[in-house]
Amino acid sequence: MWLSVEKLVNEIKQDKPDPAAAKALQEGLGGQFGEMRTLMQYQFQNFNFRGDAKPFRDVVRAVGTEEIGHVELISTTINMLLDGSSTSSSTKAVDPDSLPLADALDGNGNIHHFLVAAQSSRPVDAAGNPWSALYVYDSGNLVLNLFYNLMLEATGRLQKCRLYEMSKNKTFRSTVSYLIVRDLAHEKVFAKALEVLGVNWGKVLPVPKVDTDKMPEVKALEKKNLHNQQWTFSKESQLGQIFKGESPFGDGEIETMDGLPDGFDVPVLPDREEEFAPGLDKDLKSKAQEIAGITRQQRAAQ
Ligand SMILES: [Fe+2]
Repeated sequence: MWLSVEKLVNEIKQDKPDPAAAKALQEGLGGQFGEMRTLMQYQFQNFNFRGDAKPFRDVVRAVGTEEIGHVELISTTINMLLDGSSTSSSTKAVDPDSLPLADALDGNGNIHHFLVAAQSSRPVDAAGNPWSALYVYDSGNLVLNLFYNLMLEATGRLQKCRLYEMSKNKTFRSTVSYLIVRDLAHEKVFAKALEVLGVNWGKVLPVPKVDTDKMPEVKALEKKNLHNQQWTFSKESQLGQIFKGESPFGDGEIETMDGLPDGFDVPVLPDREEEFAPGLDKDLKSKAQEIAGITRQQRAAQ
């Protein structure tokens, strides 16, 4: 079972809303090589693991546990790119005739972000296709699974490098850069596990060499060694028996980190009157705030 920590795995920088960037980023969430897929693929491989090679099970369990934090991070980033993109008025009643949602008809964004989701993320790819369980690969064979996971991380990273080249929006880039670095770390986890099993993966599967030297946000994260580390997200994990020593890519020492990262505060999305979200009238709102322990003075100031 799992515990949840009310923190984001990385800090999301503030910038202007950008519905076109939000639409593109959906590929990293609900696309074939997105975070929803990595989460479900590694967890099904964990649930279905046969035999007593626990350190290898801990490999898929640790990375699969990190992935739910990536789903949260990328959804929150999409929300920040969308929220307030239609109008600057978030808390006051909006005149419908002023067409506060007119930007939803701008062809650069995804109309469902406004029409269905009230300026927030959806479990779909950048073209609006729903996420599919058919993406999930679990063959029951450890070597094949590890190979496929390595390919999945390498392709996900390739796509994120393409996303990086689409927008300079700081909100967008802070998350895309973080995921470029973490995908690299995860490539190494699966490559190392194959190496430990004696599989010469580099001969049959050359991982694409995507040069990120000109991406300063990526370099800054790599300086913290984030591309060589993997957390266990568990007290009983034996991941450290596999993920140690020289990086399988020959770029430094890899390191197993006990537990989980410190994390960053999760932003609170404001009410959006023009979206009728969350749609509480005065009475319901005051009840909800009472339950949340918000004082009368704070309410009056709102
Ligand atoms: Fe991920």
